[in-house]
Amino acid sequence: MSSTLVLANSSVAFEQQLRRTLKGDFEGTLHRWESSGPDDPHRAVKELMEFEPDIVAIGPTRNLNPALELCWAFQNFHPEVETVIITEPNAQVWRKALRSGASDVLNPKADRDEVIELFERLLETSSRRRLNLMQGLSEASTSGRVITVVAPKGGTGKTALATNLAVGLAADGTQRVALVDLDLQFGDVADALQLRPESSIADLSQPAGGVSSTSLKALLVNRGANLFALTAPANPGDGEDITAGEVEEILLVLAAEFDVVVVDTPAGITEATLSAIETSTDLMLVCDLSVSSVRGLRKVIDTLDRLEVIRPKRHFILNRADSRVGVTVDDASAVVGMPVSVAIPSARDVPLSMNQGLPVIEAAPRTQVARRYQEAAALFAVHGSAAGNGSGPKRGLLARLRGENEAE
Ligand SMILES: Nc1ncnc2c1ncn2[C@@H]1O[C@H](COP(=O)(O)OP(=O)(O)OP(=O)(O)O)[C@@H](O)[C@H]1O
Ligand SMILES: [Mg+2]
Repeated sequence: MSSTLVLANSSVAFEQQLRRTLKGDFEGTLHRWESSGPDDPHRAVKELMEFEPDIVAIGPTRNLNPALELCWAFQNFHPEVETVIITEPNAQVWRKALRSGASDVLNPKADRDEVIELFERLLETSSRRRLNLMQGLSEASTSGRVITVVAPKGGTGKTALATNLAVGLAADGTQRVALVDLDLQFGDVADALQLRPESSIADLSQPAGGVSSTSLKALLVNRGANLFALTAPANPGDGEDITAGEVEEILLVLAAEFDVVVVDTPAGITEATLSAIETSTDLMLVCDLSVSSVRGLRKVIDTLDRLEVIRPKRHFILNRADSRVGVTVDDASAVVGMPVSVAIPSARDVPLSMNQGLPVIEAAPRTQVARRYQEAAALFAVHGSAAGNGSGPKRGLLARLRGENEAE
């Protein structure tokens, strides 16, 4: 297999020097790429990916920050690519480089043997990593998509979104959808869909072998042919014993049985929510135009970044997006650091329909607000393009967060 090494923001002189060094020892292609505008790591990753690189070596540079940002962007979006920063190393440089996800630091004055040893080692790691990712993807492709709706603040519109999304996806007729209410204390998915479940998530008996598909299916209540819900317990105390591990198992079992699993969560980030995030392919990150809601969502995103949650694809949903409360859509997008995927307007039809137990997408399908929910569902239509990248660390999120808290 031929290998591709791309020198990013390097000089022609260094490129020539490296070509001479690698001559005869590197069976692959060497390209040089230079940023055409101001430093924008995401654009740089996009442009660099056109070379289909195995390794991206950045520099030589003394200006570490743009190089670190580029490594970080690769780590997030293309972890299969190895990144190297070419700069004079010292302890601080090493620490920063490794933290940003760089695979190595190369001294521009390194001798021939060191350079060859470094690239050989990185190519080996890169092909191993690609193989792992491919295996991971083929495993993932046998199970359905898990979409978790998250918001830092209560009353933001999570349940309205989760129920409309689930109903909208099931209406399509091509996908079987499971809707899980992880608001274990005050979950109201059953009310919002006028369901009369005989059992809830709290009735799950945990046999020694783990959650079985048969016992889980017995707890589901159906709404039409394609939508099944696992509702929250009627009594707030009854869900207390459900562990994060059980949540993960439940979602994995459902993902194996259904095309899509939509997960509604309580406000903030509970252990159950963290577990769902870990198991998700997609996150619907919801806020409205209040300062506290926007800032809260930013904090949630910072936490996800800190915990290196890169597997699920993130979608930013702005609810009540037309409210005139001093914060604009652009302000929210800038603070959150993401473009808005879907903006849902404020409409009386939403609480009215929720109170009737009929999502607005069915109760008033021609309204603007219903169309926006349809737009959100269309992100996950069978031929939709919202798939997560399926890569990255998946386990131990809770443990990592706990570890962080203990370290503080
Ligand atoms: N776009 C909207 N326009 C008007 N009302 C809305 C909109 N979205 C949600 N609502 C209403 O706001 C209230 C809270 O919405 P919802 O229950 O979906 O929020 P939540 O985030 O699930 O709340 P909780 O954290 O309590 O679970 C409900 O009465 C709902 O009908
Ligand atoms: Mg809710």
